[in-house]
Amino acid sequence: MPALDRPLATDRLTLRPANADDAAATWAYRRLDSVNEWLTGTPSEPAAFRAYFTDPARLARTLVVELRHGSQPTIVGDLMLRREDAWAQREVADEARGAQAELGWVLDPAHCGHGYATEAVRELVRHAFEDLAVRRVVANAFLDNDASVRLMERLGMRREVHAVSESLHRSGRWLDSVGYALLADEWRARHGICR
Ligand SMILES: CC(C)(COP(=O)(O)OP(=O)(O)OC[C@H]1O[C@@H](n2cnc3c(N)ncnc32)[C@H](O)[C@@H]1OP(=O)(O)O)[C@@H](O)C(=O)NCCC(=O)NCCS
Repeated sequence: MPALDRPLATDRLTLRPANADDAAATWAYRRLDSVNEWLTGTPSEPAAFRAYFTDPARLARTLVVELRHGSQPTIVGDLMLRREDAWAQREVADEARGAQAELGWVLDPAHCGHGYATEAVRELVRHAFEDLAVRRVVANAFLDNDASVRLMERLGMRREVHAVSESLHRSGRWLDSVGYALLADEWRARHGICR
């Protein structure tokens, strides 16, 4: 199932399903050391990145974020929405299928500091709860990734996990990681939406 089957619009941005033609534009910022610093890893050659980006399963969970200005929109970042099963005991496992979504984000540093990531991820959270009817969204980051931690807290997500010295960074250091979550009921209550 693709994360998104049609474009979504916010005040300044369009979120749309990624396609193979977006590989070059996303590689242009993902290859930067300052961006790759907190990512699992970005292949350093364009052809290898294209193969990684266009893997069908990965493409299906990737959205690109376009800034609408002038006649031609500019790709300013990309998002991930990975639908997953919640943990459940065997007898009720069917009810937990696809019940939550993991979110991820990357913004071109040339476009940081304008609230675009906040605006895009807020819409992604809305989409997950309202359109996909998931009951919980989650996101993870290195604790030292200040910008991502601020983003999750700006969105009202709750820090539920602080794992100490848990993840090996390519610098060779074992770093703390944090896990954030938000429930659909909390989101509805915050937006005054009845079930
Ligand atoms: C994480 C990341 C997306 C955050 O980018 P960002 O530009 O800080 O986030 P936003 O676009 O939402 O902008 C928010 C900043 O703009 C400011 N801002 C300006 N106008 C704003 C507006 N209209 N609305 C909200 N914030 C606004 C905010 O004050 C905030 O600055 P602050 O964090 O210094 O307080 C970006 O740093 C990134 O891509 N990092 C590398 C990849 C990465 O780490 N991915 C996640 C792996 S877990």
